Amino acid sequence: MNRDGSRLPRVIGHRGAPGYRPENTLASFSLAIALGADALETDVVMTADGVPVLRHERDLGLTTDGEGLLVEELTLAELKQLRCRERWPERRARSARWDGHLEVATLDELLLLVAEQPRPVELHLELKDPDELAAAGLALEDAVLASLRDHGLDRRADTRARAGVVLSSFTPGCLHRLRDRTDLPLVQLVDVDDPVCLDLDQPAGGIGIAVSRALSDPELVARAHRAGLGVTAWTVRDDDPGGAERADAQVRRLLDLGIDGLFTDHPDTTLLGREVW
Ligand code: G3P
Ligand code: CA
Repeated sequence: MNRDGSRLPRVIGHRGAPGYRPENTLASFSLAIALGADALETDVVMTADGVPVLRHERDLGLTTDGEGLLVEELTLAELKQLRCRERWPERRARSARWDGHLEVATLDELLLLVAEQPRPVELHLELKDPDELAAAGLALEDAVLASLRDHGLDRRADTRARAGVVLSSFTPGCLHRLRDRTDLPLVQLVDVDDPVCLDLDQPAGGIGIAVSRALSDPELVARAHRAGLGVTAWTVRDDDPGGAERADAQVRRLLDLGIDGLFTDHPDTTLLGREVW
């Protein structure tokens, strides 16, 4: 609880703790947990042989040594031969020990990591490019639900025992399909200038929306809350190149708007804000 008795927003490690380790790797997720993040966010795509794996985009050249390759062109065995690279040049010094040494993680490996933790860690799984993968004959929703089922996580968690899974996507059709197949909480990702933001009576997801941190409209948050939807905001980071607004100022502004959770690249410094939230 906050000092004034109000509820604290959740701190969600965005792709783990990518301010310190290459994003979406087990090292990045482990660090986010160690730093105290309430939850982890990751992006799920799929290999040619149908395995859900954790990359922000299908193009492997931005975060691995697999230049010119798409994730759906490789089998898991081939993908595991690649090594993850730091995306941001500004972060290479800090993540040098890990840069170029880590494998691409599978969703299954992340679920095992979370299961090993002595405390509940919520997982926010973003399904990336489901329609593009479907065009390649790959059913991302099926694969994610099957993987969750293998771990007993495909239904709403008993939150007294564990933190559970939230599914999200920028693709409304993906969330509509998931709504018919699972009772897991669903979150529609939106840019604040996206019209879907204005259509809160018909959210594709079930429990909330996640918006870009450019959010500045308190009425949007209030309307979402009136519609029974939570609001989370992405992404706070300490080292935004050319960022005009400092991370602590971003957090303050978003909290003042009444949001329910923050995606952050630096869970430690975001959590420090709890001293004053
Ligand atoms: O899931 C919230 C956020 O991660 C969405 O944006 O581009 O970082 O996947 P992006
Ligand atoms: Ca994401």
